[in-house]
Amino acid sequence: MPGAQDGSVIEVLAGRTGVVLAVGDDGRLHQIAFGADVAGRRPELPVGLHPLAHPTFGEEVGREAALRITHADGATSTRLRFEAVEREPHEHGEVVRVHLRDRVAPVSVTLGYRTWPATHVLEQWVEVADDGDAELVLHRFASSAPALGGADPRLTHWGGGWAGEWRPVTEPLRRGTKTVASFGGVRPSLHLSPVVLVEPDGPASETEGLVGACALAWGGDARVDAEVTTHAQQRLVVGVQHVGAERRLGPGERFVTPSACWTWSAAGRGPASRALHDHVRRHVVRDGLGIRATVANTWEAVFFDLSTDGLVELVDRAADLGAELFLLDDGWFGGRYPRDDDTTSLGDWDVDRSKLAAGLDPVIERTLARGLRFGLWVEPEMVNPASELHDAHPDWAIGEPGREARTERHQLVLDVLRPEVAAHVAGAVHRVLDAHPGISYLKWDANRDLTEPGSPALPVDRQSHLPIDRVRATEAIFREVAERHPDVELMACASGGGRSDLGTLRWFHELWTSDNTDPVDRVRLQWGASHLLPASVLGAHVTRWGGRPIAFGAAVALSGRFGFDLDLRTLTDDEAATLADAAATARLVRDLVQQGDLHRLVDPVGRDRGALAYVDPNGGRAVAFAFRLPDGDPGPTDAVALPFVPDGAGVDAIDRTPRPRGEADRAWRPLAGPRLAWPVEPAPSATVVELRWG
Ligand code: DGJ
Repeated sequence: MPGAQDGSVIEVLAGRTGVVLAVGDDGRLHQIAFGADVAGRRPELPVGLHPLAHPTFGEEVGREAALRITHADGATSTRLRFEAVEREPHEHGEVVRVHLRDRVAPVSVTLGYRTWPATHVLEQWVEVADDGDAELVLHRFASSAPALGGADPRLTHWGGGWAGEWRPVTEPLRRGTKTVASFGGVRPSLHLSPVVLVEPDGPASETEGLVGACALAWGGDARVDAEVTTHAQQRLVVGVQHVGAERRLGPGERFVTPSACWTWSAAGRGPASRALHDHVRRHVVRDGLGIRATVANTWEAVFFDLSTDGLVELVDRAADLGAELFLLDDGWFGGRYPRDDDTTSLGDWDVDRSKLAAGLDPVIERTLARGLRFGLWVEPEMVNPASELHDAHPDWAIGEPGREARTERHQLVLDVLRPEVAAHVAGAVHRVLDAHPGISYLKWDANRDLTEPGSPALPVDRQSHLPIDRVRATEAIFREVAERHPDVELMACASGGGRSDLGTLRWFHELWTSDNTDPVDRVRLQWGASHLLPASVLGAHVTRWGGRPIAFGAAVALSGRFGFDLDLRTLTDDEAATLADAAATARLVRDLVQQGDLHRLVDPVGRDRGALAYVDPNGGRAVAFAFRLPDGDPGPTDAVALPFVPDGAGVDAIDRTPRPRGEADRAWRPLAGPRLAWPVEPAPSATVVELRWG
């Protein structure tokens, strides 16, 4: 029976993902099995010979610890004994709490699990409580630390910095500990993407092999330690980056880690990604089953060079081309300090009347009159030293006494641990939205990391709480804005995809995948992102970056949440017709792209070709993309097999590759093979084909 308790065995099952725990004779909790299809697994050895369920410092000699505490009496070892297990249903599954307690110190530790059986996701977190009458110090507090079996373990992680998000590294794990981590606190996913894959038995393909995916739902720094001991035992320790974030816990205080979200597949990477996509759409992002609009953004079109007439012209062009939402990016605000570049004005969220004399209203009215929604960019957590806000409150930025506060992109981070600053930040957003009821979309940006991470809101001996408390204070602002403006769609942005994690996304509808919009790079970058995130949340815009053909850029953007971000007044007639055709195609196929099942067909990373398809979960329909890229090693040249088409099914196809002639001569035709042909040279080039069968 799923989730059954059998004597001292505790089974926690989330579809095909699960964990089996057992209590040993001495009361310690051990992991019997973890991963795919573990239901019914029972100890084959004495329980005490299995790895600990949650290893603590001083307990397992010579191994990574998931929890390290200096107790009130100075002791540094923690030995946990099982006390009780509690199970209760939630709307979509079950919450299981396994209560443990130190053998001596008044410290209780709870291993929390939340199951999501329909999406095969098992969430795990840890709670530590100080039940004594003196303070303890938490040095390390991972969310999840399962032991992994397997003869040839691999770890895949992604990162790459600004404009380089989602560059993969897959490496065999050998003796020692491999650490991947983020630092900086505000844009962690630029440094380390918020998911890792483990393949315990060697490389998995899209359709074969054992794969575990783990995503930490946390908008701050993360850390993954992949350990292989001298005895070839393996463990993955996943949690918040604890370095520089040590925590004191006073009597009665409880620290709860964010969740690590696991999913497992015994049939390769494809099912793991599809489970995560389903999960993100159903249970993480807001309105995840809704269809996202086609966005026309101003950033790469005009940067800071804004005028009412220019914007109205862009709105008209965007409407003519089929956009559904006009997004006014950076540059619209500022008072005494005009925002003509990135050196000033963050914090001064009033419309810059020197650029937009009559405010935003004429642009919003024109946008709505043309049948589009209106969106606006803000970066409310930040302040430029050159701003009226900073003139009035020079002490509102994060910093340390007597240390120079360094700027990055000429800006500082506001100290939202101070209640008056948090209220001001949220209030600034409310004020903009309340004053402009026509705004139904907000791009929320954050463009620097933390340095000198200090706050007067924290006692001297708790300054290291800042990295975690700042994330939580920021989440509280996200929550407040989401609750107060439930109809405003939110895009998460942090210099591109710096906040792509499942924690932040709970308050958002979608994210800006990367500032790198060169479509050649985007083919590979979006491929990486697809290991965690569904295309519905991955903003993908046609731009001039890289100087690629518009038809190619449009095809790449169609494989994500489609939009434009280029000066629509400079398009040639052919380019305009191609974009209009792509926008029409977006309306025809976005149900598949945004809500369908992704099948990654040919990996473009490092190669000159790539292919993928989105398939109707009920079968019978798909849209497939094939890309030829101008660089990389030669990829496979055979036409692409479509493994999601049932054997023997006759497939009809219609070519929906963006082109100036639009629908002319487009017709459904039988697809030979059925296989997808590669686009013709010269690269970069793309083919977009809608398929139907059955
Ligand atoms: C960084 C974002 O990623 C860009 O899309 C753009 O909004 C700029 N900030 C504006 O300053």
